[in-house]
Amino acid sequence: MDKIFSARTIVEKIVSAVRRGNILRPPILSCIIAVLFITICYEFFQVNQQVRTMEGTLIERESQQDGQQEASQRRLDLTAKIKNGVRNNKPILNPHPFTFTLNNPDKFTKAGHPGNLGDESNIPGVVIRTIFAVGVSDDAGIQQTLKNENETFGDVIQENFADSPRSLAIKQVMGLKWAFQFCPNAKYVMKVECNTFVNIFSLVKYLKRLRGAGSRRLVLGWVYNDSAPVRDPEGEDREWYVSMDDFPRETYPAYAGGFAFVMSSDMPRLLYEASLTTKYLFMDDIYVGICLEKLGIAPRHHGGFCHWDVEIDSCHYNWLIATRWVDSPEKTRRFWSAITSKCY
Ligand SMILES: *[C@@H]1O[C@H](CO)[C@@H](O)[C@H](O)[C@H]1NC(C)=O
Ligand SMILES: *[C@@H]1O[C@H](CO)[C@@H](O)[C@H](O)[C@H]1NC(C)=O
Repeated sequence: MDKIFSARTIVEKIVSAVRRGNILRPPILSCIIAVLFITICYEFFQVNQQVRTMEGTLIERESQQDGQQEASQRRLDLTAKIKNGVRNNKPILNPHPFTFTLNNPDKFTKAGHPGNLGDESNIPGVVIRTIFAVGVSDDAGIQQTLKNENETFGDVIQENFADSPRSLAIKQVMGLKWAFQFCPNAKYVMKVECNTFVNIFSLVKYLKRLRGAGSRRLVLGWVYNDSAPVRDPEGEDREWYVSMDDFPRETYPAYAGGFAFVMSSDMPRLLYEASLTTKYLFMDDIYVGICLEKLGIAPRHHGGFCHWDVEIDSCHYNWLIATRWVDSPEKTRRFWSAITSKCY
């Protein structure tokens, strides 16, 4: 079964488990599989290909060990730096004291899971890996389901924070941390929400054209400018209410819509480190925008990150990179077959 459908099945299972237990939970729990990190790498394809065709496992093992040593060195570096309570002479305001309870450290060096929608076999020369990022539920059944899911597909990461609408930005930071620690060779990293469809063909086409400076310090998505915080705690949009204490300015900095955005490989680490000294705000995309502003990096707008509902057919999809509100396996399948079939 395609991974993507399986993830949706999990979401459905979670919802029905919640219903069965008659427990009142925030509705967002049904979206516990909220964030996907897709790593895209094409320059390293040659290396990977070699590993696979040589059949001998020696090279593969060596490269995995190298990766693991590097990763643990990076972890040590970070822990040492964070312990002092300051980063770059700034106080740590958001320490992210979480550790992985589900992890796939060698996801990047291993072959992809066959049959995954959008996995590497779909575009020759391009390696794509997908990982599902979640927090912890207080329901043991859900945790078991996630564990099983990880055992079957090897693509779930989880840290020990409670998964809730208020922890979305923690989840975001976890993904950034995972990306630079365990996926250091990826050329790009994309964050996608669970109801978003990605046209990997137009995405890769676009990214391949980026050269030099254009492919560094890059955050690419639908850029929102000058949006204002919701200040009415009782109003229609109270879900997004932010007090003056939490964010004392009139408008948010420019940010790429959280349903889907792409980062160049240097960004996960830069953003992760910036987040440590940046006061927490639960809205993950705006939080990334605040960190970006601190780094002096403006997100780049691309109209192909489509935040409205579109119907993809085989003749009209070239411009589109991602679209939201794809909320059923049927719709996902329909879009996938549209982008993989010819326009007549
Ligand atoms: C998750 O899956 C991977 C790959 O199968 C496995 O190596 C890892 O141990 C699993 N993690 C847990 C905590 O089950
Ligand atoms: C936001 O501002 C940037 C930079 O000025 C611009 O390129 C982009 O088109 C704007 N976003 C939208 C949605 O108009």
